Amino acid sequence: MLSGSELWLLRLMADRGLALLDASTLLIVIEERGELRVAASAGKAHVRLRVLPVEGSALGALYRTGRPLSLDRPRGQEATWLHELGLEARAALVEPLNMEGHGGGLVIGVREDGGFRDPDRRALASFAASVAQRLQAERSVEIERLRFGMEARERERTRWAREIHDETVQGLGALRLRLANARDLGDREALSAAVDTVLAGLGDEIDGLRHLITELRPAALDELGLAPALQALARRAQAIDGLDVQTEIALGDEDEDRRLDPELESTIYRVVQEALTNVSRHAKATRAVISVTERDGVVRASITDDGQGLPDAASGARRSPEDELKGGFGLSGMRERAELVGGEIELSSAPGGGATVRLSVPLAGRPTAG
Ligand SMILES: Nc1ncnc2c1ncn2[C@@H]1O[C@H](COP(=O)(O)OP(=O)(O)OP(=O)(O)O)[C@@H](O)[C@H]1O
Ligand SMILES: [Mg+2]
Repeated sequence: MLSGSELWLLRLMADRGLALLDASTLLIVIEERGELRVAASAGKAHVRLRVLPVEGSALGALYRTGRPLSLDRPRGQEATWLHELGLEARAALVEPLNMEGHGGGLVIGVREDGGFRDPDRRALASFAASVAQRLQAERSVEIERLRFGMEARERERTRWAREIHDETVQGLGALRLRLANARDLGDREALSAAVDTVLAGLGDEIDGLRHLITELRPAALDELGLAPALQALARRAQAIDGLDVQTEIALGDEDEDRRLDPELESTIYRVVQEALTNVSRHAKATRAVISVTERDGVVRASITDDGQGLPDAASGARRSPEDELKGGFGLSGMRERAELVGGEIELSSAPGGGATVRLSVPLAGRPTAG
């Protein structure tokens, strides 16, 4: 499937090709899984069929020759592919697209009055080369984006694995040891005391795992939306870490339950979650404020604490503090998430005066919430 940005690129280029060739219609056709798809068209003609099979269509036969073609007053057999597309043509030029390893396609220019000449042919050939090159570059970016996303997920799994290991596996290991020792002592009373301790410990471990599962997939986010999910995070930080957390969420003036698109909601949720975990772990704070607002088409989320501030970020406030923070993946993960939705993260900190994490994401071009 062509991605949105690829289609966009092809549409822009079709307009340019139309002007370049002074044609009545210009089409860019891309092969995808055995089908030829008119990915972009510019000019007068209304294309009748936008998708044709490579096997069993006249356009497919033309595509498979892999050669350029120039037709003057096409009729009969040679005009069949034009009829398939529903095009009227006094003259037609066809140039193959070749994107090494990324499939192929055709660029087609037609004139309803007048013919094409040699310079037109050369112009179309170099235009086709530049379409192929731009599309190929766009696809490499697309692949890069996918890889980036996969790496981020992989890193995240590593973190969860570490979390499960440090919290639950260690805890269970200790309980097992406790039981084994009591058994080896062969003392009934000690054994029964150990069983009580281990039962209580198991209860704690089950609670811990429950928390972990909620954090992995916050059901509240899908079902209830961002505000309740963030409030749940705040309550948990309060209950577990004794942190006083306030939430200020204002998305839209009237519509209290306004939803953002799912990707953006989960980005905001994860950034807040990580920032809040950092506050509990590192900040020595007593209070934190979570704020989410939307103004002028930009969604902003911030997490501020009153703790000791980020280490070594004292002076050059404009410098990116995380350069100096050789910590885990939390801050870099936030940045990656922000970039994936076209936004950015800003950190600021005053020594002894707390730290702030700010996420801002422009809404322009984002899908509307379902
Ligand atoms: N709110 C904060 N207040 C003070 N220091 C902070 C705060 N947030 C982060 N830090 C510092 O920044 C470092 C990097 O944070 P980061 O989230 O990237 O890693 P981590 O929390 O140590 O590990 P991980 O998030 O991978 O479990 C932390 O180790 C801590 O020293
Ligand atoms: Mg962290």
